[in-house]
Amino acid sequence: MRSVASAPGKVILFGEHFVVYGTKAILCAIDKRITATSQFLDERKIRIKSKLGDAEFDLDTSTNPEFISNKFMKPFLHIAKEALQEFNENRGIEITLESDILAGIGLGSSSAACVATAASVAGLFSKRSKEEILSRSIESERTVFEDVSGADSSISTFGGLMSYSKDGYEKINSKNDISLIIANSNQIHNTKEVVLKVREFKKKNERLFAEMCEQENKLVKDALSAIKENDLNKLGSLMLKNQEMLEKINVSTDKLDLLIKEAVKTSYGAKITGAGGGGCIISLVDKSNLSNTLENLKKISDCFVAKIDFDGLRYSR
Ligand code: MEV
Repeated sequence: MRSVASAPGKVILFGEHFVVYGTKAILCAIDKRITATSQFLDERKIRIKSKLGDAEFDLDTSTNPEFISNKFMKPFLHIAKEALQEFNENRGIEITLESDILAGIGLGSSSAACVATAASVAGLFSKRSKEEILSRSIESERTVFEDVSGADSSISTFGGLMSYSKDGYEKINSKNDISLIIANSNQIHNTKEVVLKVREFKKKNERLFAEMCEQENKLVKDALSAIKENDLNKLGSLMLKNQEMLEKINVSTDKLDLLIKEAVKTSYGAKITGAGGGGCIISLVDKSNLSNTLENLKKISDCFVAKIDFDGLRYSR
């Protein structure tokens, strides 16, 4: 028996980093997915297969140091082990991951992989609600990164547009003609390292950081009304304000700045998305300026148009 589930990647429209400290963020699921396929193994092993490498963990000896120290594999091992224990199952599990999204570029591939894996493994036993899958996914992410806000897993699970804070999420009903161009700096980043760097910044600048959190909350509030009013000019200029804040906390890079400079020549606004320190920028466009912006960005980056994914977690391809 095979159990297949897939979950979308994401962009953060507003509020990355500050969301870790309790402010609101706005996120959007994108039409690029990660698919997880699980099946039982007769041997008591957990096997993970993916483009980033394969790994195998022996459940009886528990002595695979490579697996235990492998940050990429740890969440999947956690999900599979917990499920076997919960259902008192004496076999093993093989999980195969396939992805439309490159890892380490700020598009939520790790969270989408955790959501898809949690659902696909659960599907071998009994289907779970999206809320249960989400909580398993966040728990598994925290085996490598305790500070994770849960924002990425939430949008990947439920899809669409949402505002998120550690107190919960709210779906945003939008019929806007929003399209985003995503441009990759080709600088791979490590989210955990960038979040830790921001934590250092916060420690050294407590008062400034607290003020910035307030500003971010205000930005998110204004952005929510701009989305409601379908005011792309306003939304774009708020994105630029958010970008200024991300620059202040030192998560931009020269390449990201260059991409943003190019993007704002023709689009409504642009900013880093996700942790920064590399990864991608997003640029807000509609039919009127999509092709110009895409052409310009293509000259200096790998870029593509992203649409909103409204499904979130899906149980089969
Ligand atoms: C990463 O996509 C978003 C961050 O805000 C971290 C998090 O929310 O856990 C940088």
